[in-house]
Amino acid sequence: MEQYVIKGKTPLRGEVVIGGAKNAALGILAAAVMTDGHCKIENMPNVRDTNVLLQAMEAIGANIRRIDDNTVDISGKEIDALGNITIDNEFIRKIRASYYLIGALLGKYKKAQVALPGGCDIGSRPIDQHIKGFEALGATIRIEHGMIIAEADELIGSHIYLDVVSVGATINIMLAAVMAEGRTIIENAAKEPHIVDIANFLNSMGANIKGAGTDVIRIKGVKELHGTEYSIIPDQIEAGTFMMAAVATRGDVLIKNVIPKHLEAISAKLIEIGATVEEFDEAVRVSATHRLKQTNIKTLPYPGFPTDMQPQMAITLALSEGTSIITESIFENRFKYVDELARMGAKIKVEGNTAVIEGVEGFTGAKVSAPDLRAGAALVIAGLAAEGFTAIEKIGYIQRGYENFEGKLRALGGQIEKVSSEKEIQKFKLKVG
Ligand code: EPZ
Repeated sequence: MEQYVIKGKTPLRGEVVIGGAKNAALGILAAAVMTDGHCKIENMPNVRDTNVLLQAMEAIGANIRRIDDNTVDISGKEIDALGNITIDNEFIRKIRASYYLIGALLGKYKKAQVALPGGCDIGSRPIDQHIKGFEALGATIRIEHGMIIAEADELIGSHIYLDVVSVGATINIMLAAVMAEGRTIIENAAKEPHIVDIANFLNSMGANIKGAGTDVIRIKGVKELHGTEYSIIPDQIEAGTFMMAAVATRGDVLIKNVIPKHLEAISAKLIEIGATVEEFDEAVRVSATHRLKQTNIKTLPYPGFPTDMQPQMAITLALSEGTSIITESIFENRFKYVDELARMGAKIKVEGNTAVIEGVEGFTGAKVSAPDLRAGAALVIAGLAAEGFTAIEKIGYIQRGYENFEGKLRALGGQIEKVSSEKEIQKFKLKVG
């Protein structure tokens, strides 16, 4: 079983280039099946989630041509519009975001059949708001044998008010509405940068979407969508993860290919606790030379502090001076890394959706296990900051959302390797001494 082995206490220094945004890529890849034309998509992160979604699309007949690791040409022309367009459980079990194909296939073919996503590591994650949107557009939704079956004679634009600010529901309803008859308004829409990127991609295909990035998105249905060429925005969360790694190891890192505006909530908090953050047009330079201070965090929908940065921020605060409080307001089970971190000497007490963090001078390396994608990345940061050796199991979670994570960290001086045996761990320990 592959794992990371890390020797900590090396400040990260140098430059890192951020890849394309995973959570924009997943919606954009799904949207590409909505045209018979060709979509050439660049700056696609080469991670497990995008590769699994491409497999799901191939399975229903989409034509996928991989131009290179980060560029793909997609056409939905061959998708069997008459047969069962079924995304089966194999793909949904691996990545929930396969469910974006419901909105895309319903929007284009007026039918879709996708396995119901189960819960996942960070919470129950219902899709009632997705279904509410599809039904408002005129689709009939049936749940049978673990499948969602969505069908519509026609889709008519509607005024939809989301009860919860949901990224997934906003994206899925946008996909189902772009070729519906007439106008659709999505109120209380999510405003994340990836929502804007997916709307921009759809507009480049001939859709008519206005207001993405605000809480009211207005869509005017069009008859058909054409092919396009598009480059995905940089990944706000990968960038934020490297910002935290820089400060947790008291390093100095120039993080390139970012949109600083997307990082504002993260930068503001790092500056508040005493780190240095310098903004350039397409880069941020982050450093910390001394122990940082405490602060309080509440995760919120964009532009608030992102829930996907909560575990990584917790590591930084667990090493800061004083007591910090993190309130996780988006998901109900996103503190599972706390038990792992305790093995490294962290002092964190979780009560409901709040973590009380008592800063400690330092961590000591230990054997830990990644409980989910972002918590796994946070444990890597903890290992890089810790005294001694850390081994992290279940790194498959991390590979879902980070391309060449260990390679990028090594290039910054991090002593980290991906290994798959005890023997390789010993070899690493001998090598780094
Ligand atoms: C997306 O998940 C991201 N995943 C998550 O990133 C991210 O944490 C989340 O948005 C919030 O930003 C992808 O984009 C693939 P939501 P999503 O719908 O769409 C509730 C990562 O690490 N809700 O915005 O599933 C839900 O339970 C992943 O990259 C409903 O109640 O998140 C949650 O409490 C982890 N009913 C809240 O809304 C619904 O129908 C926000 O969820 C939908 C959601």
